[in-house]
Amino acid sequence: MVQPSNATVRKLLTKSQTTPQRRPRQSPSPISIVIKIVTATVIILAIVHPIYLYRHISQSNAIPGDWFQNKSMSSLSAESTNRKPKTPTEGQATGLTRAQENNAHRLHLRTTPGERPYLRQDSPGCLTDACVQQLASTIARAFPDRVNQSWCFREEPPLGHEDNANAPASVHSKDGNGVWRGIILVKVPKGASSTSAGVAIRIGRRVGCQAVQWKHRVASKYQRLHHPDTFLFTTVRDPAARAISTIFFHTISRSPKAKPTDDLIKTYLQQSKDIHFGSISEGQGGFQLRYTSLDEIAKGSAWSATNRTRVLHPEQVVANVRSVIDSYGFLLVTERMEESLVAMALVLGIDVADVLVTSSKVAGGSRYHFARMPKQEYKCLPTVKSFVSPGVAQYIDSDEWRAINYGDYLLQATANQSLDLTIARLGRTRFEAALSEFRTLRAKEQALCAPNVSFPCSNEGVPQPQLATESCYLPFFDFGCGHKCIDQMIKIDREMRGVSGWQYQ
Ligand SMILES: *[C@@H]1O[C@H](CO)[C@@H](O)[C@H](O)[C@H]1NC(C)=O
Ligand SMILES: *[C@@H]1O[C@H](CO)[C@@H](O)[C@H](O)[C@H]1NC(C)=O
Ligand SMILES: *[C@@H]1O[C@H](CO)[C@@H](O)[C@H](O)[C@H]1NC(C)=O
Ligand SMILES: *[C@@H]1O[C@H](CO)[C@@H](O)[C@H](O)[C@H]1NC(C)=O
Ligand SMILES: *[C@@H]1O[C@H](CO)[C@@H](O)[C@H](O)[C@H]1NC(C)=O
Repeated sequence: MVQPSNATVRKLLTKSQTTPQRRPRQSPSPISIVIKIVTATVIILAIVHPIYLYRHISQSNAIPGDWFQNKSMSSLSAESTNRKPKTPTEGQATGLTRAQENNAHRLHLRTTPGERPYLRQDSPGCLTDACVQQLASTIARAFPDRVNQSWCFREEPPLGHEDNANAPASVHSKDGNGVWRGIILVKVPKGASSTSAGVAIRIGRRVGCQAVQWKHRVASKYQRLHHPDTFLFTTVRDPAARAISTIFFHTISRSPKAKPTDDLIKTYLQQSKDIHFGSISEGQGGFQLRYTSLDEIAKGSAWSATNRTRVLHPEQVVANVRSVIDSYGFLLVTERMEESLVAMALVLGIDVADVLVTSSKVAGGSRYHFARMPKQEYKCLPTVKSFVSPGVAQYIDSDEWRAINYGDYLLQATANQSLDLTIARLGRTRFEAALSEFRTLRAKEQALCAPNVSFPCSNEGVPQPQLATESCYLPFFDFGCGHKCIDQMIKIDREMRGVSGWQYQ
């Protein structure tokens, strides 16, 4: 199998790290004006057509105008009226030279044809799995130890493990100059977000740290960050699985009349770009890359509708992924949650019991979800189980989907390889011992605690905020529900086994 040689990839990556420079403006020639008019017409048609299509499909499926629907509809129409998508011509958006563009071509041409149906020998941007994995291996890194716990702010009064249940979860996170610090979870919507929020809060409560952030907030809000005093982490999930999950959760479950037809799902996969509720980004490489990037990524810099199977400026996308990998303390891989949590506990120098939470997907926890409706009303809505039909599967296997989400696929492969590198650095034996302890506790938690956990909605769909406040870390949120039972179980179990929680450090 012919792969891009390491030397070639490295050379490309070094080049992509250089700061982009603006080219001097030249006065436009008549020919270029004509070209611009033609391009603009094509673009306007390209925008108007899908919006028309979207409206048509929406009407034919009779989607009711609930608050979320209103939101996504208005964000879609805002795109058509206010904003022309940028059409970065070669090199313009990122300042890449023609030679670098050509190198990008070569990078792709060296991959093996025929490996996946979406392989296109002539499109740059490395759309095959093998090529993405190879590129990821040049970006992945082992996350370093943070065992000195400089990310933990133990303000007065000192908090113990047991008696701090009522402490607010997000105080003390900004210093006097507005610089963020402490434990910061960038909670990516539908990327195992309840589990990761439960873990962030649990670490804060058990280790006694006051500065903990866990809200749905894009990472660029944390741009002013003091890295030595911060533990920044997030989750990375398969881009198609995350998008499907968001469509079923935010649209289909909330609009009882919205039928999960292939047309509706494909329309949302192609067009829903809301920063929190969307499926994709605005040509920025993918929803998760945009959400987790500390620096804002230019719209249309990685993909544009003028050629739907093409990745623009692949080197810049690589640089954006590298910047995420390098600025985070840990990336939890949703598909490998147990391993991720255990590796993260070891990186932080904390007990594996400190990252053990009940999945909100156990027992009846996933049958209904608690939703805040307009006018401050809370309701339990049935959660529609997501599925992928053959038609939708075909779309998420297409060149187009891969090109739109190229940055997210690269981020996922890189996070996955970084987990392997981190485990190797921690030491296999030490990691396996910690993992086995975690699994032992988890099995007991699932047998003893999970069946009796109260979530904000009962199994019958009745709101039970009082019971949930008792059971979960925060009222109205399914984070860390059943934590008191878990704490008690761990204490008793370890006393019985004569095991101390710190033996794996
Ligand atoms: C959605 O928008 C429509 C029309 O703008 C409005 O009448 C309706 O009340 C909105 N629904 C909600 C739930 O906000
Ligand atoms: C789209 O991009 C690919 C890859 O660069 C190219 O081969 C193809 O000709 C382009 N299609 C159009 C219609 O420009
Ligand atoms: C703790 O570790 C961080 C990063 O590893 C380092 O920047 C910081 O100086 C350390 N703090 C102390 C007090 O050793
Ligand atoms: C993640 O890594 C594991 C182990 O190295 C591998 O088996 C799996 O295929 C990888 N998945 C992705 C999406 O890269
Ligand atoms: C289950 O939860 C209820 C209410 O939270 C509690 O009274 C009961 O003792 C629990 N049962 C077990 C077996 O933990």
